[in-house]
Amino acid sequence: MLTVVDKPIIQYVVDEALEAGIEHLVFVTGRNKHVIEDYFDIHFELEQTLKERAKKAEITLLQQQLPKAGTVSFTRQQEPLGLGHAVWCAREIVGDEPFALLLPDMIMKDEKGCMKGMMELYEHSGGNIIAVEECAPDQAHKYGIVGVGEAIGEGFRITGMVEKPAKGTAPSNFFINGRYILQPEIFKILETQERGAGNEIQLTDGMLKLLKEQDFAGYHFKGETYDCGAKDGFILANVAFALERADIRPSVEDGFRNLLGRLK
Ligand code: G1P
Repeated sequence: MLTVVDKPIIQYVVDEALEAGIEHLVFVTGRNKHVIEDYFDIHFELEQTLKERAKKAEITLLQQQLPKAGTVSFTRQQEPLGLGHAVWCAREIVGDEPFALLLPDMIMKDEKGCMKGMMELYEHSGGNIIAVEECAPDQAHKYGIVGVGEAIGEGFRITGMVEKPAKGTAPSNFFINGRYILQPEIFKILETQERGAGNEIQLTDGMLKLLKEQDFAGYHFKGETYDCGAKDGFILANVAFALERADIRPSVEDGFRNLLGRLK
């Protein structure tokens, strides 16, 4: 629920999903995260106050952000056992259908949303798709890294993957950026997936097993991605998105130039 400029991070990801044509949103949350559920409901008191103050633009924005009734579901991951386990927690709601997965700490900036581009690739390729980007080789140990095969559309066939490879062992410098289109067979695999990197049940380990049975394509996203789960990424996201806003750009630019002047 932290905001980047003036919008909760979760809303950026929801907007990206909706732009790609996603019709039903499933949130896997944890204890004490009920504020997320409340956020996607009517804000009765707030709307009332805005009406009293004749804040029409703000009321319209609130109403636009309200999902259609019945299109949002919530489930809990009771214990933080890892991303693979969190995805598995959604199995009953998702059912036997392909689904998109968006990790909401990563927000992206481009003319076309990352998930929309992935959907376009999916229409041709089917199977499973993972969005990837290039990173500096010395950063590869922080992410899931894929092995690169022949070119397909705006991407390539994935030949392997590894979660948080030890330094110097990554199969490429293409890292998984937090956007996936997966087939439902992943759930069966995750049910018995053992713990991996960081002693967590890793989605990447489950996907590697699925790769033996199904195709995976890497969608090469060329926009900007900000990791809002990291302090520096969160700060940079605020600056990058603020610079796109006509109302605050001049003052942010001035302030930022000023701060940069302090750098040696
Ligand atoms: C998760 C995934 C990893 C991916 C990353 C992107 O890791 O397991 O493959 O590269 O998200 O943010 P986490 O950030 O949860 O450690």
